[in-house]
Amino acid sequence: MYGVINKSLRDMVTEGHGESVWGQVMVKAGVPNDSFLSMRSYDDEITYRLAVASSDVLGIDVDSALHAFGKHWVNHTLARDYDALVRSTGSTMLEFLNNLNALHDRISTTFLDYQPPEFRVSALKNSRMSVEYISHREGLNSFVAGLLVALSERFNEPMTIKDIEDLSVDAGTHTRFHLLMED
Ligand code: HEM
Repeated sequence: MYGVINKSLRDMVTEGHGESVWGQVMVKAGVPNDSFLSMRSYDDEITYRLAVASSDVLGIDVDSALHAFGKHWVNHTLARDYDALVRSTGSTMLEFLNNLNALHDRISTTFLDYQPPEFRVSALKNSRMSVEYISHREGLNSFVAGLLVALSERFNEPMTIKDIEDLSVDAGTHTRFHLLMED
């Protein structure tokens, strides 16, 4: 994944726990060099190894680490570096999520050959929303859950994730998140 993702993970660990804890994460992950360039693409394996090592060192499970990372990505990295882009993408959760594929498309001129996920969003009756997440990658559902929680907080639209439904595919991920918006 692009270096910007690995750097965000590093920021989350160093801001919360200090440089020396991040040092332990790198050793555990077997990643000798953390001078990631934001605009360079790195092997996905590096991101996965850093996420697993972070959970190990922090003594939490991998899903909790990925969930926290999803929140950090929205609350810190996007808020700090991409605020204008995020603002222009929508002013409600539904509008924002509906424009998320267009947002990822728009930045494909910056992140050449990157492989962003796809989202399909539907507003359902009874304050429910369905968000399908489609990716050629695996294991990132908890990251997406953290992203959705942080977005709902950003838009001040409280919700709970009622269910995460696996729409099995041969390779990659296709998951449906069932959201209950609280009004
Ligand atoms: C300005 C805002 C954003 C930027 C600049 C951005 C950029 C990126 C980049 C560079 C990647 C790595 C893909 C690769 O290296 O192949 C990525 C992946 C991803 N993005 Fe975004 N993104 C933004 C907003 C969001 C938001 C708001 C969500 C919320 C749902 C999101 C969901 C994801 C997910 C889940 C991935 C992981 C890749 C996968 O699942 O296959 N992104 N994004």
